[in-house]
Amino acid sequence: MQNSVNIPGYIYSTNNVKQSPITLDDFNLMKKSVLFGDEDVNALRLSHDILKEQVEAILDVWYGFVGSNPHLLESFTSKSDGKPLGDYLSAVRKRFGQWILDTAEAQYDQKWLDYQHEIGLRHHRTKKNCTDGAASTEHVPFRNLFALIFPITFTLKPFLAKKGHSANEIEKMYAAWLKSCLLQVTLWSYPYVKDGDF
Ligand code: HEM
Repeated sequence: MQNSVNIPGYIYSTNNVKQSPITLDDFNLMKKSVLFGDEDVNALRLSHDILKEQVEAILDVWYGFVGSNPHLLESFTSKSDGKPLGDYLSAVRKRFGQWILDTAEAQYDQKWLDYQHEIGLRHHRTKKNCTDGAASTEHVPFRNLFALIFPITFTLKPFLAKKGHSANEIEKMYAAWLKSCLLQVTLWSYPYVKDGDF
């Protein structure tokens, strides 16, 4: 899947991604910390078929949320005049859509881990704007990155419920998405944490 898509700046599974400083062994222990197991992998994969036809509708909700909160939208605005950068928003949106599918595929190998680190760098001043050559603000503040886990997962629930699955299955998919986002945003936090403290 990752190799077959052609999205500008989406370099998952290529040699252009640097190795994550976190090992797969570390990551397996992180999974234990958040009570993430095989049941969650199955629930995420079940969500793939449900979500794949709804990606644009989901992105409309998430972008609507960011767009209606000026303190969040700021990360997508021009550094010089403060106006939203349409090209930047739509370039990122394509990779965000692919991220929904990648998250639902739940393939936790070295390539996946490495790309997680890359996504963290892209939110941090280390690499923000570089992928799309955007003239935007320098850095996504950590306080927003972490807090967004709730709206991202909570607003997914109605989409998970659209294909007639039982309340129990929907709850399991929701929990798996929440745990996956907690794990991913924790990995993305690496450049935000003081050296030696991660
Ligand atoms: C749970 C929280 C979040 C998730 C799941 C998420 C997801 C993503 C994804 C998948 C990408 C594209 C990664 C790629 O290049 O392949 C991205 C990029 C980006 N996100 Fe987030 N994000 C989160 C929080 C935030 C917050 C709070 C902001 C700021 C309001 C933000 C602003 C951005 C920006 C500006 C980019 C583009 C970075 C660049 O220049 O490459 N994100 N995000």
